[in-house]
Amino acid sequence: MKPLWDNYPHFIRMQQLSGESLEKIIQHAIDFEKALKKCKPLPRQSRNFPWRMRVLFYEPSTRTHTTFKDAAALFQLSVDDVPDPGVFSSAVKGEKLESALAAYTCTGNMGHLRSADIVVLRHKASGASQVLAKVIETAQRNFPGSLPLPVINAGDGTGQHPTQALVDLATISAERKNSGHSLDALTILFSGDLARSRVVNSLLYALGKFGHKCKIRVMFCIPNGFGTKPDLLEYLARNRVQYEFGSPREFPKMIKRADIVYMTRVQRERKDPGEVVFKKKCRRKLVFRKEYVALLKQDAFVMHPLPINEDPTDPPPEIDSELWPLAQAGDPRFAWMRQSHRGISVRAALLDLICLSLDAAADALPDGAEIWGRPWKKPSM
Ligand code: NCD
Repeated sequence: MKPLWDNYPHFIRMQQLSGESLEKIIQHAIDFEKALKKCKPLPRQSRNFPWRMRVLFYEPSTRTHTTFKDAAALFQLSVDDVPDPGVFSSAVKGEKLESALAAYTCTGNMGHLRSADIVVLRHKASGASQVLAKVIETAQRNFPGSLPLPVINAGDGTGQHPTQALVDLATISAERKNSGHSLDALTILFSGDLARSRVVNSLLYALGKFGHKCKIRVMFCIPNGFGTKPDLLEYLARNRVQYEFGSPREFPKMIKRADIVYMTRVQRERKDPGEVVFKKKCRRKLVFRKEYVALLKQDAFVMHPLPINEDPTDPPPEIDSELWPLAQAGDPRFAWMRQSHRGISVRAALLDLICLSLDAAADALPDGAEIWGRPWKKPSM
């Protein structure tokens, strides 16, 4: 089958996708969402085979973790969720990530013998999913014709979080009330700990895929020294996405010009010992206060990948807590709850497109083949 994106069926970083492939996935996700809302059958493209998904989360997660499993449950993927692999694995005995990943996937030198058909990996090391893809590719070179083993990056350190970028694009697409392309004439304001935000990294790479056909302006409101990496800024410039910076003091002024205000939290767990993350004064300036609601343009809305910092020993939360009930009640100006729930339909649509590659590879197996003791039914000609 024709690959749906570069390095298909792995889904590791946004650079693998073209604007067209992104649009296709998002449309598929929106079709899934509509079907789910109306309790209609999902418009799935893959066949009904219980492929096995192994979930390896070395870092904490609430939404990404559960929505991957909810998505898999929608079409009978069997799920093995390895409990706390960072603690309950030979990592604590000094084993390298490569060796652990080879064990968790049963790749190595046994041809078709695999202990999973799809692996979803979250890890604190940037590039961890690439490491896993390499382990698998090496095994596949030794056994050409063995089934693919797609890797999905569910967040790697300060690298990328590409499925969150899909969730964000689907949200922008579903919630922007413009008549043309949902990204055209878009001004999006990012604020927070952008240097460490894998979510923002992936979303910026995704926006860059549309810079040649849509007018996109990105505003960064950040303290000095906490900005997006220079190579990503060069990428934006190359792809005709305009960008500008403002200091925390200018936050209210920038909100007035934005169609979307994208908030992020300070990633305290990623700071090195002794490192100052954000001065308190700065953090207070970068709170979306309830008074700022009046500054929002008509139809503008606030997004957040969540979690919001709710630690009472280290306030403030980056969004005024008085606004959270409004988000829960479905106020169109506060999108973060809908954004989070969309994780199910978006990840289900992605898994469906990834299962297609497994279906195609299984069709090439000899007649009467069994996969994990289950007969594979080839399509009748
Ligand atoms: C983000 C993450 O894990 O990178 N959360 C998420 O997946 N929805 C954002 C964060 O932790 O701040």
